[in-house]
Amino acid sequence: MPLNADRGYSNMDDGGGYNGTRYLEKQEATRGSRRKWIITGSIIALVVIIGVGVGVGVAVSKNHSSKSTSGAAASSNSNSPVQQTNPNDPSTFVLDPNLKHSFYGLAYTPEGSQLPECGNNISAVIQDIQLMSQLTSRIRLYGADCNQSSLVLDAIAQTKVDMQVYLAIYNIPTDSTPYTRQKGEIQTAIETFGTNNIAGVTVGNEFILDYLTAAGQNDPNSAVGNQGAALLIPNITDTRQMIASMNLNKTIPVGTSDAGSYFNTEVMEAIDYGMANVHPWFANVSIDQAAGWTADFFQDTNIAGAAAVPNNPQMYIAETGWPTQSSDAGNANNGASAASVPNLQIFLDTFVCQANQNGTGYFFFEYFDEPWKDVQFGGVEGWWGLFNSDRTLKNLTIPDCHID
Ligand SMILES: *[C@@H]1O[C@H](CO)[C@@H](O)[C@H](O)[C@H]1NC(C)=O
Ligand SMILES: *[C@@H]1O[C@H](CO)[C@@H](O)[C@H](O)[C@H]1NC(C)=O
Ligand SMILES: *[C@@H]1O[C@H](CO)[C@@H](O)[C@H](O)[C@H]1NC(C)=O
Ligand SMILES: *[C@@H]1O[C@H](CO)[C@@H](O)[C@H](O)[C@H]1NC(C)=O
Ligand SMILES: *[C@@H]1O[C@H](CO)[C@@H](O)[C@H](O)[C@H]1NC(C)=O
Ligand SMILES: *[C@@H]1O[C@H](CO)[C@@H](O)[C@H](O)[C@H]1NC(C)=O
Ligand SMILES: *[C@@H]1O[C@H](CO)[C@@H](O)[C@H](O)[C@H]1NC(C)=O
Repeated sequence: MPLNADRGYSNMDDGGGYNGTRYLEKQEATRGSRRKWIITGSIIALVVIIGVGVGVGVAVSKNHSSKSTSGAAASSNSNSPVQQTNPNDPSTFVLDPNLKHSFYGLAYTPEGSQLPECGNNISAVIQDIQLMSQLTSRIRLYGADCNQSSLVLDAIAQTKVDMQVYLAIYNIPTDSTPYTRQKGEIQTAIETFGTNNIAGVTVGNEFILDYLTAAGQNDPNSAVGNQGAALLIPNITDTRQMIASMNLNKTIPVGTSDAGSYFNTEVMEAIDYGMANVHPWFANVSIDQAAGWTADFFQDTNIAGAAAVPNNPQMYIAETGWPTQSSDAGNANNGASAASVPNLQIFLDTFVCQANQNGTGYFFFEYFDEPWKDVQFGGVEGWWGLFNSDRTLKNLTIPDCHID
C-alpha cells in the first residue's frame, strides 16, 4: 500500500541522494520491542485526548441547545468530534470555528480500506467528510478497495457539502486482479451516485516508482522505466474506455499519481492530469526551506515535464506535508529538522496560503494520522495528519485564506 513515497529524490539534481530500498530495510531493522513501548504510550495519550474531546463536545452541544429555538435535539453522542443539531441528518453538523476553508485539496483514505480486513463504514466516512468539508472542496483517494468510492460519494450526498473527489485505482505491475476489481468498484460508484462530485479517476499510485525500485533503478525514462510505462498505460486507456462506454453527461479526466521525480514521458503523454508527490521531508530539506523547495521542485520537475509533452497534462501536487512524530528515534528528524507539530505549523504557515496565491493545485498530506501505516511501516509513516487518528485536531492553527 501507499508507502507514500515520497521517496525518489535520488535522481534529483540537487542531490537528494535518497534511496527508498535502503529506507525500507532500515524500517524493518528498527521494528521491535521499542514499538510496544510506543504503542503503550500512544494509548495513554489517546485516553487523555478523548477526555479533552468529551469536554469540548459537551460545551458545543450545550452552546447549541441554548441558542436553538427550533427544539432540534443535539447529537446524543457528545464525545464525537462532530456534533449534529439533528442526529438523524448528517447535513446539520455544527461548524468548528478552528477549521478554515483554506486548502486547495486534502489527501484521504477512509479508515479500514485495506484488503483483506476492510472495516470502513458510512458513519465514520460521514464524520470525515463533515470535518474535511470545513477545510477544502477537494479530496483525493488512493484506491477503490473496500467500497471506499461509494462510501465517500454517499457521505457527500448525505452531508450535502460542496466536495469534488478524485477517485482512484491502486493497480500493480505484477497482477491484473487489483486493477479489474477496483475498476468494477468505480463503475458501480458512478452508476449509483452519478458524476456530479467526481473530478477525476487516478489510475496508479507510485506505479513507476515501485516498478523501478523493484528493479534497483531510478530513471523513469530508462528502458526499464518504459517497460513500467507499457504496463501502466493500458490500464489508463482501459479506464478511459470504461468511462466513455457509460455515456455519461460529463467528461471525467483520467490521470496518474507518482513520486515527483518518477514521471515517465510516455505516461505523461497518456494522461489528462498528473499528481506528483513532493516531499521536503524525504528530500532532507530543513523546515525553513521546505515550502520554497516544494514550490521550486514542482515547478522545475513536474510543471516543466508536463509542458514538454504535446498534451500538457494538468499537474497537481499529490502529497506534500510534514510529519509530527516518528515511532523510532532514527526517523525523528530528516537530518535537517524534526518531525514535530510546531514544524507542521511552520509548513502550514509558509505553504498553504502562498500556494493558493500562486494558483498551485495541491493535496495536503494528509487529513488524519493512519495507525495501520504505523503498524506496517513504522517511522514517520503513520503521523502526517492534521487530525489525530481519533479525528481531534492536532495543536495547530489552520491558516485563514479562503479558497473555493
Ligand atoms: C466505523 O469505523 C470506525 C473507524 O473509522 C470505527 O471506529 C467504528 O467503530 C466503526 N463503526 C461501526 C459501527 O462499525
Ligand atoms: C457500499 O457503500 C454504499 C454507500 O454507502 C452502500 O449503499 C453499499 O451497500 C455498500 N456496498 C457494500 C457491498 O457494502
Ligand atoms: C448529469 O447527470 C446528473 C445525474 O447523474 C445530473 O445531476 C446533472 O445535472 C447532469 N449534468 C448535466 C450537465 O446535464
Ligand atoms: C492492467 O495492468 C495489469 C498490470 O500491468 C495488466 O496485467 C492488465 O492486463 C491490465 N488490464 C487492462 C485491462 O489494461
Ligand atoms: C537524510 O537524513 C537521514 C536521517 O538523518 C539520513 O539517514 C540520510 O542519510 C539523509 N540523506 C541524505 C541524502 O542526506
Ligand atoms: C509562490 O510563488 C513565489 C514567487 O514565485 C515563490 O517564491 C514561492 O516559493 C511560491 N510558494 C509556494 C508555496 O508556492
Ligand atoms: C500548542 O502549541 C503552542 C504553540 O503554537 C504552544 O505554546 C502550546 O504549548 C501547545 N500546547 C500543547 C498542549 O502542546
